[in-house]
Amino acid sequence: MELCVRASSLLLGLLLQLLSSVDVVSAAQKFGINYGQIANNLPDPTQVAGLLQSLNVNKVKLYDADPKVLTSFANTGVEFIIAIGNENLQSMAGNPGAARQWVTQHVQPFLPATRITCITVGNEVFSGNDTGMMASLLPAMKAIYAAVGELGLGGQVTVSSAHSVNVLATSFPPSSGAFREDLAQYIQPLLDFHGQTNSPFLINAYPFFAYKASPGSVSLPYVLFEPNPGVRDPNTNLSYDNMLYAQIDAVYAAMKAMGHTDIGVRISETGWPSKGDEDEAGATVENAAAYNGNLMQRIAMNQGTPLKPNVPIDVFVFALFNEDMKPGPTSERNYGLFYPNGSPVYAINTGAGGVSGRTGPFDPYSAQMFSSASRLAMTSGMGVVVLLGALFLRASSARTTQQRKKVPRLNE
Ligand SMILES: *[C@@H]1O[C@H](CO)[C@@H](O)[C@H](O)[C@H]1NC(C)=O
Ligand SMILES: *[C@@H]1O[C@H](CO)[C@@H](O)[C@H](O)[C@H]1NC(C)=O
Repeated sequence: MELCVRASSLLLGLLLQLLSSVDVVSAAQKFGINYGQIANNLPDPTQVAGLLQSLNVNKVKLYDADPKVLTSFANTGVEFIIAIGNENLQSMAGNPGAARQWVTQHVQPFLPATRITCITVGNEVFSGNDTGMMASLLPAMKAIYAAVGELGLGGQVTVSSAHSVNVLATSFPPSSGAFREDLAQYIQPLLDFHGQTNSPFLINAYPFFAYKASPGSVSLPYVLFEPNPGVRDPNTNLSYDNMLYAQIDAVYAAMKAMGHTDIGVRISETGWPSKGDEDEAGATVENAAAYNGNLMQRIAMNQGTPLKPNVPIDVFVFALFNEDMKPGPTSERNYGLFYPNGSPVYAINTGAGGVSGRTGPFDPYSAQMFSSASRLAMTSGMGVVVLLGALFLRASSARTTQQRKKVPRLNE
């Protein structure tokens, strides 16, 4: 009798799970993707529009304002974050004319057909040591913000900047999050600007870097969103089962310490490389598939962080393509979900539909961008790992038992 009840509630649970995943499949993907172009072999932007449609991705972040891309995505409904490069900050700071010209040239002509919703001014400006550039950041943002307003675009386009999580001096426990002291002079007024203009604080966060730096002490399941005991923040008693959420909440705490509880945090970049040099621990196809797949499932669930459970995480995955001309270690050229020919680097369990539910005339495969093997992987849709299948599952269960004992080290 008791067994019967248990069995039927188990069935009910399964049924509910199925129903809710069907629900998720019909919804558009809620994650965004970074479309970097430091490569000499990428497909034409018109083909990329089709690729993204097949994935149901409707948010894209660029590192520039490539008119070819913006034109290709006209009337697609895809939402864009475009960027002003660091090299332009000094010339725009305190120069309303230059800012106005930039917006007139790079934003205005594409609206409203292409949905540009945010301009990021500078990328990781505080990670270098160019204090002139740091001092120019906020004035440049203010100039762009003023230009956006003057051109009547204030209601639709916000202004922000993207920062590495290393702007934090302390990130664990998350409740002790604090910005680097030497940056306070720049960050305090920057936060005031975000509060006044109701714009988000953007961070680029890579738990991969923490793992790569200390593979012996950072728990792999903890950085990959895989089952692990989690870590408790002793000040709040909140429990963290992954590093990315701890980093996000550390940013909230750091902002609060500067008097701001009125600013949202978005993840402008996160990802995991599928390949790296000998000394780049963790850079494997299996880990990349686990990181991005697990992350996308949490996004599909509308999950928030322990500190902000009702604020769904807002993430742009890095990156759409492997970019062959990026300098640095091998991992830098291997963050892509796709090879330049449009075939996936690995099959991914997104927790939401791929192309399997699509109907209508669009066929992403007709553009010869996909091999038949990749087609198989992409149509797996709901999240069955096809290409790597058994291999991936075996590897991850072995890893879970092996790594679970390690104490996560989080202060990275
Ligand atoms: C900072 O400046 C020093 C000396 O000018 C240079 O060696 C170093 O690479 C710079 N660091 C960064 C992060 O740019
Ligand atoms: C955290 O939990 C401990 C033990 O259960 C308790 O003594 C403490 O008051 C809690 N702290 C907070 C901030 O809730």
